[in-house]
Amino acid sequence: MTGHDPLDVAAIKKDFPILDREVRGGRLVYLDSANTSQKPRAVLEAMETYYERCNANVHRGTYQIAEEATNALEGARATVARFIGARSPKELVLTKNATEALNLVAKAWGRANLREGDAVVLTELEHHANIVPWHQLHDELGIELRWIPVTADGHVDLTDLDRLVDGAKVVSFAAMSNVLGTLLPVERLVGAAHDAGAIAVIDASQYVPHVGTDVQAWGADFVAFTGHKMLGPTGIGALWGTEAILDATPPFLTGGEMILNVTKEGFTVNELPWKFEAGTPPIAEAVGLGAAADYLTGLGMEAVREHEVSLTAYALRTLTDRFGDDLRIHGPSEPAERGGVLSFEYRDLHPHDLTQVFDQHGVCVRAGHHCAKPLMRVLGAAATARASLYVYNDEADVDALADAIGEAADFFAL
Ligand SMILES: Cc1ncc(COP(=O)(O)O)c(C=O)c1O
Repeated sequence: MTGHDPLDVAAIKKDFPILDREVRGGRLVYLDSANTSQKPRAVLEAMETYYERCNANVHRGTYQIAEEATNALEGARATVARFIGARSPKELVLTKNATEALNLVAKAWGRANLREGDAVVLTELEHHANIVPWHQLHDELGIELRWIPVTADGHVDLTDLDRLVDGAKVVSFAAMSNVLGTLLPVERLVGAAHDAGAIAVIDASQYVPHVGTDVQAWGADFVAFTGHKMLGPTGIGALWGTEAILDATPPFLTGGEMILNVTKEGFTVNELPWKFEAGTPPIAEAVGLGAAADYLTGLGMEAVREHEVSLTAYALRTLTDRFGDDLRIHGPSEPAERGGVLSFEYRDLHPHDLTQVFDQHGVCVRAGHHCAKPLMRVLGAAATARASLYVYNDEADVDALADAIGEAADFFAL
């Protein structure tokens, strides 16, 4: 890395067994962490140890290993709650992923609190997970969706913010764009929501893995994120909410675990956060997520962010110097205003053709609409190639990407 890298990436790479394997006869260059991250040995071992030593169902066991399993689950919840600055583990509902967390907000809070004509404000850069549940409420209840526009340089356009939030009931937005890397002005949007009497919902799926998060400082009502993008396993995510709003929200999924009592006449709900956790939870996955949060804490989230800003700056510089106007990189040009997500198009080459050539060189990059079709329409692109950086990436990975773009250009004789 040019200058001092706050992370020892060579040592970090060794923590990720998958980075040792070969693909297509060479090393694996993984540049798709915005899609899903790789998992360090600490996470894999925590899950394996859980299964090998104390696998049992939780909250209902009367024997030692069931007690240990419950402690492992609740310990992981406390770790993750601390990782995002929650006041208490009670505020952290474990879900399957961010999509389920956002559905919980729309379906449980939304159905109980929204009526025909109520407005929900979104931005044009949202992931489908923060759009489709609201579309469903539009169809079901007749709510109105309003959209904060995105500018040509990938920022949200706040010119009309006061008018857009006026009279709204919900303002729901991503803290970081999964396509453009844009960091959104979270405090400003939360403030505007609250001034208008709306609740603020944050999709922090791309933020929590990359930037130190303090949900109390944000002051929002709900924050959703997902485990597999932050070095944790798939099948686990979380919804943070203030105790007040979680208390006032009816349960989402129902059945076992989420009740205090059930009679033939009805049921009463469990305390927070179990009220929202129907059925046997993803115990090993929660343990893995706790280990992931510990691993990131060990690296230091300030160092993680600093590393990504300088590696993003290196990538923007390298790619622009080498390919000039042939390569169109979307999103803010200033590394400090973005995460390490680089969506690009090379001349008129289809991104799928591009990434197929990359694959021949062991370079993993996603191509497509990235589950953000309304944004793709704003960008005027059906698809982009998206390279995304994380703690185990270094300048050699960026150079491999640049070489792969060069190979694709040669292959298609552009
Ligand atoms: C901004 C954003 N929100 C939500 C999601 C959904 O995450 P999951 O598929 O884990 O629910 C993603 C995943 O790509 C994302 O990038």
